[in-house]
Amino acid sequence: MSRFHVLITLLSILFFTPQSLAIEVDNELPDSLGKWYKPENKRQVWLHTMFGMRREIQAVEEYVNQKNIDGINKWSERLITHYRKLPKMVPEWEDRLGMNVIDALEESVKNQELSSIRFNTRQLQKQCRSCHKKYRVLASLRYRSANFSELIISNQHKDYKYARFMKILSRSLNRIRIAAEDEYWLVASEASKKFQLELVMLGKNCVSCHKDDEPYQRVLGLSTQQAIKQMDAGIADQDTKAVKMSLGETAVKVCARCHAVHRTVSDIQRLLLTKDSEH
Ligand code: HEC
Ligand code: HEC
Ligand code: HEC
Repeated sequence: MSRFHVLITLLSILFFTPQSLAIEVDNELPDSLGKWYKPENKRQVWLHTMFGMRREIQAVEEYVNQKNIDGINKWSERLITHYRKLPKMVPEWEDRLGMNVIDALEESVKNQELSSIRFNTRQLQKQCRSCHKKYRVLASLRYRSANFSELIISNQHKDYKYARFMKILSRSLNRIRIAAEDEYWLVASEASKKFQLELVMLGKNCVSCHKDDEPYQRVLGLSTQQAIKQMDAGIADQDTKAVKMSLGETAVKVCARCHAVHRTVSDIQRLLLTKDSEH
């Protein structure tokens, strides 16, 4: 088994899918694709070329159904131009692009053969699908998804790698839970203070990617502050049940919500994209 197949097996175990359903991906993305994404490019050129082609194919299909020749001419020309840019952008993919299909489409448009235009459009869509099946998720993970592997969280005293900091955070949260259950209220109160300081440290880190305040607010904003206040009140009242409830609420709002966006993607990035030369 190659290293790559081991990863796929791991993924399938992770999602509890039978192995026969494991996704088939090739983890080699051509280097030149990176030129069409930030930071190498000012814009996400590849992605916007794709959005353009989806719109253009739709327009061609709709105008074929309406027998609108002007519409067909206008939108197929754009589609053909966009598609012919692909092998120039990523020469490594030239062989898998099926450029003969685009030539056939051009010919059928020139001859105004509607059924042949329809046929060649469908053939082209097969090209789209076959490339997407192999590479789409990889490109999105590599070029457009947040990567936490190099991020550092720090206070005045120390720097922590993200995963390391997460373990510390998780232990603080569980210490509150254990102490509340076993009624060590001083321990619970100290752990809660520690946990809240750690959330402040974590929260300062969001701005390194999020220029707006909303993602921060959704995870660490007022409603989370409310749940934490209730947790502290429960500790002060020595009310185990109240602490368990408010702590559960905090964990859903802070940990689960952020993990759904950021941790799952980070885990999949590590499984699919890490090369032997890295890490
Ligand atoms: C930014 C949003 C975010 C928030 C908020 C967050 N996490 Fe995480 N968490 C992550 C990311 C990203 C990873 C993966 C880090 C990596 O593997 O490099 C992670 C990983 C973890 C891990 C696994 C660490 C390891 O050993 O690899 C644990 C445990 C964890 N988080 C616990 C928590 C708990 C408990 C909370 C809530 C108190 C929490 N996290 C809040 C983003 C977040
Ligand atoms: C040689 C490979 C390749 C071919 C051929 C290709 N694409 Fe893509 N396409 C990609 C990759 C890679 C992505 C992922 C880009 C990203 O997420 O940044 C993508 C993403 C997309 C997206 C955005 C993702 C989504 O579902 O919202 C659309 C729309 C799209 N392609 C349309 C098309 C159409 C229409 C065609 C055929 C005319 C086509 N593509 C042909 C590689 C290809
Ligand atoms: C390494 C960069 C990075 C860091 C650090 C980061 N995020 Fe994100 N986050 C993104 C990207 C990229 C998206 C998806 C696009 C978007 O919404 O901006 C996203 C999306 C989100 C979303 C879903 C979209 C939304 O607006 O609700 C939430 C919630 C979120 N992040 C919360 C956080 C919180 C809280 C922190 C800090 C604890 C954080 N993120 C740190 C890059 C990052």
